[in-house]
Amino acid sequence: MPPKRIAVVTSSTRSPRLNPTITQYVYDVLTSDPTLPTNKPSPASPSAIDTNPRHITFTIVDLAKQSLPLYDEAVIPASLPADNPTPHYTKRHSRAWSSVVRGYDAFIFVTPQYNWSIPASLKNALDYLYHEWKGKPAGIVSYGSRGGGKAADHLRGVLTGLRMRVVRTAPGLAVRHTGLPVGALSEEEEKVELDARDVAGWKEAGVEGMMRNLGMELVCELDKE
Ligand SMILES: Cc1cc2nc3c(=O)[nH]c(=O)nc-3n(C[C@H](O)[C@H](O)[C@H](O)COP(=O)(O)O)c2cc1C
Repeated sequence: MPPKRIAVVTSSTRSPRLNPTITQYVYDVLTSDPTLPTNKPSPASPSAIDTNPRHITFTIVDLAKQSLPLYDEAVIPASLPADNPTPHYTKRHSRAWSSVVRGYDAFIFVTPQYNWSIPASLKNALDYLYHEWKGKPAGIVSYGSRGGGKAADHLRGVLTGLRMRVVRTAPGLAVRHTGLPVGALSEEEEKVELDARDVAGWKEAGVEGMMRNLGMELVCELDKE
């Protein structure tokens, strides 16, 4: 069986932003989980060959790099041929995004809360496609001053509308101390460091365990296929 590919999606697109830092944290927790059948070499035996037939590859997909304009497709995505919608989009950027999403078997959306919902950039990227999402497992990790639970709830509804199989566990990261730099900003400053107090709070609240549960729930969904 070929490896299953899970995209860990960075959902906000402004600059600077916290999302790449939070996404990297989620990625690191998932890929360091010894119970998940990832194809990352184990630190204990780096030369070991992974023979697990259902191994998993995690890849970070950043919506900011897709450069999608506000939704401008002439066709309704759900009306396109389900088996091969990509060539039927009228815009080049839609075809490119369709190809990217078709390359993954499941998704973890890492999203901030913007005014009790998800950022427009994420809704926009979701609206562009339909069959590329349909039927695939999805997980949600949110963040905000209280964990971004309202964004997670909204996103669950949107993904269910896209007929994705949204897993139950949805960790929420309360971001209290980690922040964007204040003052003049350069490109290099975009990478924001996590504040150790936030990370300690997440660990104490069991958030890393929830992320591993989420990862395992996605693996179980992929195993059903
Ligand atoms: C437009 C906007 C709306 C926001 N609304 C909320 C909110 O409803 N609840 C919350 O906890 N934080 C809210 N925040 C704070 C964000 O969670 C915080 O700024 C976070 O850094 C946003 O992620 P980003 O930096 O990746 O864009 C909001 C931020 C922005 C920019």
